[in-house]
Amino acid sequence: MTAVMTTAPFAEYVVIGNPIAHSKSPDIHARFAAETAQDMRYARLLAPLDAFAATVQEFVAQGGRGANVTVPFKLEAYALAGTLTARAKAAGAVNTLKFDGNQILGDNTDGVGLVCDIVRNAGFDLAQKKILLLGAGGAARGVLLPLLEARPAQLTIANRTVAKAQELVEQFQPYGGAHCQLNACGFAEAQQQYDLVINATSASLQAQLPPLAASVFGPATLAYDMMYGRQPTVFMQFAAANGAQVRDGLGMLVEQAAESFFVWRGVRPHTDAVFAALRAQL
Ligand code: ATR
Repeated sequence: MTAVMTTAPFAEYVVIGNPIAHSKSPDIHARFAAETAQDMRYARLLAPLDAFAATVQEFVAQGGRGANVTVPFKLEAYALAGTLTARAKAAGAVNTLKFDGNQILGDNTDGVGLVCDIVRNAGFDLAQKKILLLGAGGAARGVLLPLLEARPAQLTIANRTVAKAQELVEQFQPYGGAHCQLNACGFAEAQQQYDLVINATSASLQAQLPPLAASVFGPATLAYDMMYGRQPTVFMQFAAANGAQVRDGLGMLVEQAAESFFVWRGVRPHTDAVFAALRAQL
């Protein structure tokens, strides 16, 4: 069995991934714990690529109470969870595990984190808005349910591989209900101006830009990249050059963490100071 190596003293909460050394989650949760006066420890846990489930089980056996799950294990975490929340089921992936005896609850806080950052932190109401979501991979699927629950008038999913966007439309049609026009297209077909354009492709990782018409942006458009970094991403630079307001995904990172913290501890931390501290450290 894999040895569970967290920092001493034993941490009840971990972020599990491979690689994991870069993760900001221990810093974020330590700040949340201090701010809410919760007695808890949170560490990084590197799982071997072929031993995610065994690593989780050993952590639980040693007294682990919760875990965040990151690349490349979100689908394995989904499979491992005995109970799934509605938002985890819709996302098809789990980023938050909660352990209670032998029970494993799987949740997904990514989408709520995104919506909270847009609505609360950026002060951008989503009701009745037109949204363009770029990408149809795991990141896009993970945020669709909370986006639709915010009741936009229109949500267009644009992807390089249009069939994948169409599959998501079919899957999420029941959640959109009567209130939202949900449709799929290729990048070239998205031409009208949107209120919100979200980049959920992994293109920014390679400093690439989805081939997008400048006409999707206007002065009141919020262009949101789920990636973040010290410099604006190429997507943010393109959107800003075409007159849009821009925001990166650092706030989503902090808000998804806050929601996980709430799932585990039942206490909701304030996020503004943590966000400012992380921004200063980038
Ligand atoms: P993630 O979990 O980050 O969403 P993923 O499931 O592999 O990763 O999905 C990656 C997404 O980014 C997909 O929508 C992919 O488009 P395809 O479905 O056509 O592959 C998109 N993507 C990746 N690189 C891209 C690029 N250079 N330009 C446009 N879209 C890109």
